[in-house]
Amino acid sequence: MGIKITDTTLRDAHQSLMATRMRTADILPIAKELDQIGFFSLEAWGGATFDSCIRFLNEDPWERLRTLKAHIPNTPLQMLLRGQNLVGYRHYADDVVEEFVRLAIKNGVRIFRIFDALNDIRNMTTAIHAVKKGKAHVQGVICYTVSPVHTIESFVKMGLELEELGCDSLCIKDMAGLITPKAASQLISALKKAVPIPIDLHSHCTSGLAPFSYMAAAQAGVDILDTALGPFSGGTSQPPTESLVAALQGTEFDTGLALEPLAKLSAYFTGLREKYHVLFDPIAERPDINVFLHQIPGGMLSNLLSQLKEQNQSGKYNEVLKEIPRVRQDLGFPSLVTPTSQIVGMQAVLNVLLGKRYARVSKEVKEYCLGFYGKTPAPIDPEIKKKIIGKEIPIEGRPADQIKPQLEDLRKEAEQMGILKKEEDLITYALYPNVAPKFLRGEFKEEVLQCAK
Ligand code: CO
Repeated sequence: MGIKITDTTLRDAHQSLMATRMRTADILPIAKELDQIGFFSLEAWGGATFDSCIRFLNEDPWERLRTLKAHIPNTPLQMLLRGQNLVGYRHYADDVVEEFVRLAIKNGVRIFRIFDALNDIRNMTTAIHAVKKGKAHVQGVICYTVSPVHTIESFVKMGLELEELGCDSLCIKDMAGLITPKAASQLISALKKAVPIPIDLHSHCTSGLAPFSYMAAAQAGVDILDTALGPFSGGTSQPPTESLVAALQGTEFDTGLALEPLAKLSAYFTGLREKYHVLFDPIAERPDINVFLHQIPGGMLSNLLSQLKEQNQSGKYNEVLKEIPRVRQDLGFPSLVTPTSQIVGMQAVLNVLLGKRYARVSKEVKEYCLGFYGKTPAPIDPEIKKKIIGKEIPIEGRPADQIKPQLEDLRKEAEQMGILKKEEDLITYALYPNVAPKFLRGEFKEEVLQCAK
């Protein structure tokens, strides 16, 4: 059986390489050609694209989705959904999640890739049920990370639970580019044996290993691989679509895709890359094996360094690097992805700069210890937990059960402000109450691209 391809050029690739700044107008001239390739799906919406549209591009994200759907009628459009966080940065009430999914389906999303940073399925269930209700495809995600508690058995158990919930396919999401060929081979073999639905591997070239791991995944029976078109591939993005198609040609894994039309796409996106070249960071495009030495993804390293520089503390960099894995262990081995990467990183910086561990803790670490982000992969160190939350009692249940329905109150607020022109505007407001009113009133201007060569 040939391998299917999900192309991420329209979402993850430009989010990883050029701060999510691709415009709808950049996509339309090539939409027809993209649609004719025969991809399993085009990841084109969700993740940071929603936020970026409103905050920087003065584009309505719903309008983008409708326009893409109109120009790409055949290939399923796929989105990345952060479980109960949707495309925002905190948990929303169930009624917001349900309405978001309903409108995303109405406007053209056919495949929903749904994940939770802690792999806590309770944070994914409302979204999964809503997608099933709308008769679209649910791809349930297993966030891949390395720790003593993240075993093949634990990942397979999660895969089975997701399948039982009705997921149509599974995605192994290796956001840090950590998965080795051997690990990919073992994990995919085990999942293929246990779970009857298709398996997708999503990795990043951050460490340089992804192309090797993709070959190992193919040999282990993976069904779908995620790639990005050459000019938007590599580094912190996905492996190149054209190269994978060429690598598999004439083998039992042949994608069935032709190279000539892909070359036409490469040429178009090479031009687009020229337009945005100032946004590309050469460091993000270089393979970096630091992720194996410290378990810290590349993007997080550069954030940390600039954070320390701001406080004239860059001399403490190596100490913070050593502290991050310790904090991660104390907090029960969360995977280092939004939002847990920020939570762990910030606490490590506080611990080092104050010279005393957990003498001060961020509000987010406290909420994390109180259970508001979900169940941690391993228990939090009990002494440290006590130090952080004192006598307060952590919540036991699903975090979103603490949130009352939000839509009706939000609707009243938005109506008073006079910002609702269509039903989607209410969700835009619910997700970004601070930025949305100005955007919906039309008071935003598109950010000017710095074009200095
Ligand atoms: Co990704």
